[in-house]
Amino acid sequence: MKILVCGGAGYIGSHTCVALGQLGHEVVVFDNLSNSTRVAIDRMAELVGRPVAFIQGDIRERRDLARAFAGGVDCVIHFAALKSVGESCSRPLTYFDNNISGTITLLQAMEAAQVSRMVFSSSATVYGNSEQVPVTESAPLQATNPYGRTKLIMEELIRDYSASQPGFSGVLLRYFNPVGAHPSGRIGESPTGTPANLMPYVTQVAIKRREQLQVFGGDYPTRDGTGVRDYVHVVDLAEAHASAVRWAMTQQGCIALNLGTGCGYSVLELIRTFERTTGARVPYRIVERRPGDVAELWADVSMAREVLGWQARHGLERMCEDAWRWQLNNPDGYQVA
Ligand SMILES: NC(=O)c1ccc[n+]([C@@H]2O[C@H](COP(=O)([O-])OP(=O)(O)OC[C@H]3O[C@@H](n4cnc5c(N)ncnc54)[C@H](O)[C@@H]3O)[C@@H](O)[C@H]2O)c1
Repeated sequence: MKILVCGGAGYIGSHTCVALGQLGHEVVVFDNLSNSTRVAIDRMAELVGRPVAFIQGDIRERRDLARAFAGGVDCVIHFAALKSVGESCSRPLTYFDNNISGTITLLQAMEAAQVSRMVFSSSATVYGNSEQVPVTESAPLQATNPYGRTKLIMEELIRDYSASQPGFSGVLLRYFNPVGAHPSGRIGESPTGTPANLMPYVTQVAIKRREQLQVFGGDYPTRDGTGVRDYVHVVDLAEAHASAVRWAMTQQGCIALNLGTGCGYSVLELIRTFERTTGARVPYRIVERRPGDVAELWADVSMAREVLGWQARHGLERMCEDAWRWQLNNPDGYQVA
């Protein structure tokens, strides 16, 4: 199958392209490299053992997309989005334009090219301040920041479009907390500037690029007072995408699925597991809660198991080991000197 992977040079996209390539699919990476680099594409090709096609383009640009669809495409995976909650609060219009306008233009290009299968990167953020854990796909949806609102609206756009097109299939994958890296240590998460996510912050402190980890909130009503989340290995997520493509190729309609392990770990549990499995130290300090953060959130993953036959295989130790190998082998991420 020929799969157009929009945002395929990024963290989750690169792992997914490797998984798809290793399954024998033809992958075309489409990315404007606003948060990624060509080095990632070279490394993907190295892992797959053959070149990976790349089109540098923007999902808001019809002409770029027309080039991508020109050679025929069976399915689109849509990772292309800006994803920083903090930045979305200071630059909401940039997020609305990139994420929402981009998705509309992408759907228009799919319609023009008669491509009717899409797998979409959504997020647990669409559950907002969910009061129920584990959270199921039927829980109320709510946005608590502009980034979350874009994900919610993108889901709705795809759902409405799907309802208007009898042959369309859409899979909305709601990731919980993706972490870890490919076991080769060749591809991984390479944030520019201060990492917004916990694991890259932990690994950068462990390698002494940063002095100390700030743990936001030590007084939540949880086991040890710190926030509890559902961390999921990026290689497991990549495999879930391959299963979602299979579903989209054979089924019709639009479904939303949680992707997590179904287990919640606190920030302190993650730090201790990281220190135990890697032998590295992670000095930390507990600071004020971050506005908008919930105490605990983990997924009910039964639907992904039933619908896709997918289940996460890697535990927290493996996530820590692989994230650490990536960091050790690439102390500055993809920024090669
Ligand atoms: N990483 C997480 O914690 C997480 C959690 C939940 C959901 N998601 C979602 O998963 C997707 C992938 O996340 P990631 O962590 O791999 O992020 P990432 O930033 O590493 O990857 C996104 C890729 O999309 C590209 N891109 C952005 N805007 C584009 C545009 N207009 N045209 C073409 N390319 C564009 C970027 O250059 C980047 O390579 C995003 O949609 C994100 O919202 C991520």
